[in-house]
Amino acid sequence: MRKTLIAADLKLGRIGLGCMSMSGGYAPADRDDRESIRVVHRAAELGITLFDTADVYGPFSNERLLGRALRGRRDSVVIATKCGLIAAADGTLSRNGRPEHVRAACENSLRRLGVDAIDLYQLHRVDPDVPLAETWGAMADLVVEGKARALGISHATVPELTMVHSIFPMAAVQYELSVWTPHLRDDVLPWCQDNDVAFVAFSPIGRGYLSGNLTGIGDGDSRTGDPRFTADAMAANQTIVKGVRSVAERIGATPAQVAIAWVLAQGDRVVPIPGTRTLRWLEENVAALDVRLGPEDLRELDALPTATGRMRWDRWRSTDSFGRRFTGL
Ligand SMILES: NC(=O)c1ccc[n+]([C@@H]2O[C@H](COP(=O)([O-])OP(=O)(O)OC[C@H]3O[C@@H](n4cnc5c(N)ncnc54)[C@H](OP(=O)(O)O)[C@@H]3O)[C@@H](O)[C@H]2O)c1
Repeated sequence: MRKTLIAADLKLGRIGLGCMSMSGGYAPADRDDRESIRVVHRAAELGITLFDTADVYGPFSNERLLGRALRGRRDSVVIATKCGLIAAADGTLSRNGRPEHVRAACENSLRRLGVDAIDLYQLHRVDPDVPLAETWGAMADLVVEGKARALGISHATVPELTMVHSIFPMAAVQYELSVWTPHLRDDVLPWCQDNDVAFVAFSPIGRGYLSGNLTGIGDGDSRTGDPRFTADAMAANQTIVKGVRSVAERIGATPAQVAIAWVLAQGDRVVPIPGTRTLRWLEENVAALDVRLGPEDLRELDALPTATGRMRWDRWRSTDSFGRRFTGL
């Protein structure tokens, strides 16, 4: 494996495992808890330390699954979970950054995961209705009390990152980063590098699309309604898949491996967390650590056309560049 990344004493490694899809986010009909547990065990055998979940995945069942899978392996892994997003009974998501919610959410996550402390506790979304310093202060109290070992945040703007980092240092920022969502290289990634903060890169395979294997989206799949996953966008973005495949064929790798290797090539502080619930894909993804992209490969991937379909994450922040507030998901 490449040099392991250690942030705030957490051994994050160079690649982690995203566990969201194990609890039905994508292709819910294919959910298979027993196979997912085998995937978690194999990941640990392959040297993966970072396992990423959230209370809202499932909701709640993903934390329970991960807790079950990691029983007996507690000391060799880094459990990362998140709070701050709430799922209503109809599946609608809303944000909650109130200190009392953060405290209760942490207690509930500890119980579901079956641990005394969460290694990396992340704020899933900034709640624009609650001063961020109050949310972060409540999370910092959890570290002081030993209920969390380190803090992270997802979808915060650079001014928000700077502000919370000055209140209580963060170990990791979590954001989408991939061949078809390279934008964070302009602001958040340099901020992480300057501040020695890890960048946990989610959806490195573009929610499966960049592998070239995805032909359609079925019922109940959370990608439904994502502007990148309409039939038109999926057809238009085949140019990107073709470009990734062309590099993959040249260097003897798979498209998914090239997508992950591109994320790894963005810097030593970047830790991709590809998600899978199949052993074959897990092994393929971990083997991306041995795939080296040369300058010509990277140039070719960087020159691929801008993807069709507005990205979601720009609305997952608290405000846009005009100061408009976002409260939904
Ligand atoms: N902070 C946030 O707001 C946020 C948002 C989204 C995700 N995340 C985190 O990031 C993790 C990863 O993101 P993601 O799951 O959205 O996207 P991803 O890793 O880009 O893609 C996962 C999808 O690709 C498929 N896949 C995985 N490896 C493959 C391979 N080698 N060949 C072909 N297909 C492959 C998976 O299928 P199977 O599952 O069927 O194996 C799954 O449908 C999540 O698990 C979650 O922990 C965080």
